[in-house]
Parts: sequence; structure tokens; C-alpha cells
Amino acid sequence: MGDLINEAISIGWPLLALLAGLLVYSQVSISDPAAKKRATFKLFIGIIAAFMLLVAIAHYKNSFYEANRMLPVSLVLITSMCFMMGIYFPNQAALLKIGGFMFFVAAGLSGYGNWLPQVEGGFPPKEEKIQFESMTAQQLADEGEKIIFGGIGQNKVQGAIGKGQCPLCHAFHKGMLGERAPNLDGIPERAGKERLEDPKYSKGKPAGRDYAQKEAFPGAGTAENGQEYIAESHSCPSCYVVAGFGVKGTNDKESPMPAIHKPPISLSLPELAAVDTWLYIREGRDSPTYDEIVKSYEKFIPEADRPKQQDDKAAGPPSALLADGTEPVDQILAKAQCVSCHTIPGIPGAVGTIGPKLEEGTNAPLRIKDKDYKGTAKTVPDYIMESIVSPSAYVVKPFPDNTMPKVFGQKLSAGALKKIVDYLSQVKAGSPPPKIS
Ligand code: HEC
Ligand code: HEC
Repeated sequence: MGDLINEAISIGWPLLALLAGLLVYSQVSISDPAAKKRATFKLFIGIIAAFMLLVAIAHYKNSFYEANRMLPVSLVLITSMCFMMGIYFPNQAALLKIGGFMFFVAAGLSGYGNWLPQVEGGFPPKEEKIQFESMTAQQLADEGEKIIFGGIGQNKVQGAIGKGQCPLCHAFHKGMLGERAPNLDGIPERAGKERLEDPKYSKGKPAGRDYAQKEAFPGAGTAENGQEYIAESHSCPSCYVVAGFGVKGTNDKESPMPAIHKPPISLSLPELAAVDTWLYIREGRDSPTYDEIVKSYEKFIPEADRPKQQDDKAAGPPSALLADGTEPVDQILAKAQCVSCHTIPGIPGAVGTIGPKLEEGTNAPLRIKDKDYKGTAKTVPDYIMESIVSPSAYVVKPFPDNTMPKVFGQKLSAGALKKIVDYLSQVKAGSPPPKIS
């Protein structure tokens, strides 16, 4: 605003000076007190009006290339000025009022919906919130594919991954490797039949379940149909664990899958509806309606736990990073799901057992010395970086190859990778864990 006033003065200082001069002149030259008062008043209004005109011009000049974001503000100023001039020139008052009114309408039209946020501080306009509820099934499925894989048509691309992060663990196509999680090919069919019929699922009798969790929340009950099974799998993974895929050592009582409405994935109910719609549509099946899917989630996710749909775009571009490196290292490890597969001393929740315990200060030197080591690392940080960016360079025994995702080189910023490497290289067996930074 200060800049604008300076600019206005620099454009119109001769005009302002003239009016100020007239004001002084009227004080000395007019002797009739009533006339003097009137003249003073008019000149005073005139100066204000002229000043507003100048501010409006300056506004317009400055914002010429910004899609006229400030134009409505300028027009409002011109409007007020016209009304004020009406007082100053009573003979032309009607004309000026009409002019003022026209500017007012113009300001209203051009500023509708756009000038308020500008006045508040000029934030860039927000991305339009995606309206999932009014989409066709195909549009919804496209959004779902973006959430899962990062883009439309990305579902067969190796390493494609979106904010839902499902491909970190799941394969989605027949014949693709799925050791760490069930292949989701055919899930709509399997959900309603095989899964619900499984006696261990204990349909309708949550108390009879033998899992880490009996119900999503007290009173939620069990799924009654296939869609509800999918919703429950997403929101309460440990309510039922597909045999053979539980956390090691828990006898399939606990699922390694994160609840996907909770941080760090935090999909909203509309986003979950998009994900599920894709699961049906891509197999050429009819999907339940948006409302039916949202309802199935409401059954398992209590109001307070439902994340708000974020104002930013629902699904990031294909290159969207899992972590950009501004986060503390524990959050980076959580966002990238390292914690689901690895136990990492000092990191809350990092109790995974699918991969080795990451005491790299101790492990890395042993790996490099191993006669089977064919990688290129010579130092601890180099080894850790190599393990993250190309996990198959050396496969830790007795763990399987191709289980650790190979996407982290593209999905973590250099800063995030550095924080991970710094942290892990300080983790040593038998020593207290390093500080989180
Ligand atoms: C960290 C690994 C991981 C991530 C990430 C993950 N899942 Fe899972 N998911 C699993 C595992 C392991 C199971 C099997 C154990 C169980 O039943 O919970 C599973 C089970 C499921 C099931 C039930 C499968 C069946 O055959 O009954 C569905 C559906 C599912 N996941 C969908 C998803 C979707 C959609 C996403 C992404 C939004 C996702 N998962 C993210 C590991 C993961
Ligand atoms: C889906 C499970 C999974 C996820 C997710 C995962 N890893 Fe792994 N990771 C493994 C497995 C299995 C191994 C052992 C086999 C191998 O070396 O490839 C491994 C090996 C490693 C090693 C070598 C360990 C050693 O002692 O030599 C490092 C370091 C590592 N992972 C770091 C990470 C980091 C950091 C992340 C997150 C950015 C991550 N991993 C995510 C499964 C996973």
C-alpha cells in the first residue's frame, strides 16, 4: 500500500500541488466567512478525490500484467471519487452519480469472488477444490488413479506412485510380484465372497475376531458387503489380516498396512471414494455410487477422524515427492513408509520387520566387507545411500530381493535423502539412538 501511495504521488504531484495551492489561496482571498467555508470544504473533498483517482491509476498501472487482479479495487476507488466529485461540482452531480454507479457495477462484475482475498493480502488464487461428489464414475476413477499412481494411465508404469502410496506395498496387476501385500487384482470380487465368507473374518460377530483390533471403533461392527470390506481394510487394517501378510512375529494378528485416512497418508473420504471407484472401473465393473462408498467409510471412520479434503490438489503430479526434506527425519521416514518395513531405533512407530533393523553405523561396514558385496560404496553414508536408491545393489541376507521399493531415488528430495543417511549412519547397535533433526 505504501508503494502505491508513493506511486500515486509521483504520477500526480502537480495536480495535488495545484489543489493545495488553491486551498491556501482561497483562505487568503475570500473574505465572506460562509463562502470561505464552502470553498475550503470543496477543495478539501477535491484533494481527497484527486488523490483517490491517482491511487486508482497507480493500481491499474501496477497490476496491468497481473490479470487485472487490482482492477476491481481501482474501480471501487474511482466510484467513490465520482460520488465525492458530485459534492464538489453540484451542477454535474447527476452525471457524476451516474458515472459512479456505472463504475460501481463494473467493479462488482469484475471483482466478484476475486477482490476480497486480494484486499486481505494478495495471496495467489487457490487451486479450485476438486468436486468429487459431482463427477462421473470414470472421472472419479481417474482421480483415484492419480491418488494411487500419481497420474492417469500410470497404473502399469513401474515405480509410479501417488500420495496414496499403495504401490509401495501392493501390486495391482495379475502376475505382478506381491510378496509384501496381497495383489489387488480382483479385489472387488474377492472382497464380497472369499473375505467375508472366511470364518476368521467373523462377519457380524466382531467379538469373535482374533486380531489386534476387533472393530474399527467400538460399535462399528463388521462389513456386510464387499465395498464395506474394502472400506474396513483401508481404515482398520488390523481388524482382519489376510493370511500370510501380517507383521512378522504376530502370527498374522497385526497388519503392516497403515490406516490410510491417518497421517502420513491422510486420504479424505472423497479421495478414498475415488481410489475405490478406480478399483472397480479398471476391471470393467460397475462401481458403487460415490454416496454409497462414502457411507461405507463413515461406518468405520468416526467423524472426528475424518481428514478434511485438502485445498491443494487432491493428487500431486507424477513426480510429487513423498518428502521434500524440510521435515524432521522421523517424519520423512514415516512419510516414505520406511517405518512399515524397518525397525529404526529412536524413530517412533518404526517397528517393521519386513526388512532389516537399520543400525547402519554397525551394519554398513559389515556389508561392504562381505565377500558377496558387489556395490560401489566405500563409506557408511555411501552404502546407505546406495541401499535406498538401488536396493538390489546388495541384498541383505536372508531378506528377499525386490521387496524394498526402488522409487526412493525419485520420490525423496536430495535434502530428505541426506537427512535419512545422516541419521541412519549414526545408529549403532547397543548405543542410544541419535537425536532427531
Ligand atoms: C506399507 C505397506 C502397505 C501400504 C502402503 C498399503 N497397503 Fe494395503 N495392505 C498391506 C498388507 C500387508 C495387507 C494384507 C494384510 C491385511 O489384510 O491388512 C494389505 C491389505 C489391503 C487390502 C485387503 C486386501 C485383500 O486381499 O483382502 C486392501 C483392499 C488394501 N490393502 C488396499 C490398499 C490401498 C488402496 C492402499 C493405498 C491407499 C494400500 N493398501 C496401502 C500393505 C500396505
Ligand atoms: C516394503 C518394505 C520396505 C520399505 C517400504 C523400505 N524398505 Fe528398506 N529394505 C527392505 C528389505 C526387505 C531390505 C533387505 C533386502 C535388500 O537389501 O534389498 C531392505 C534394506 C534396506 C537397507 C539396507 C540395510 C542393511 O542393513 O544393509 C537400508 C539402508 C534400507 N532398506 C533403508 C530404507 C529406507 C530409508 C526406506 C524408506 C525410504 C526403506 N528402506 C523402505 C524393505 C523395505
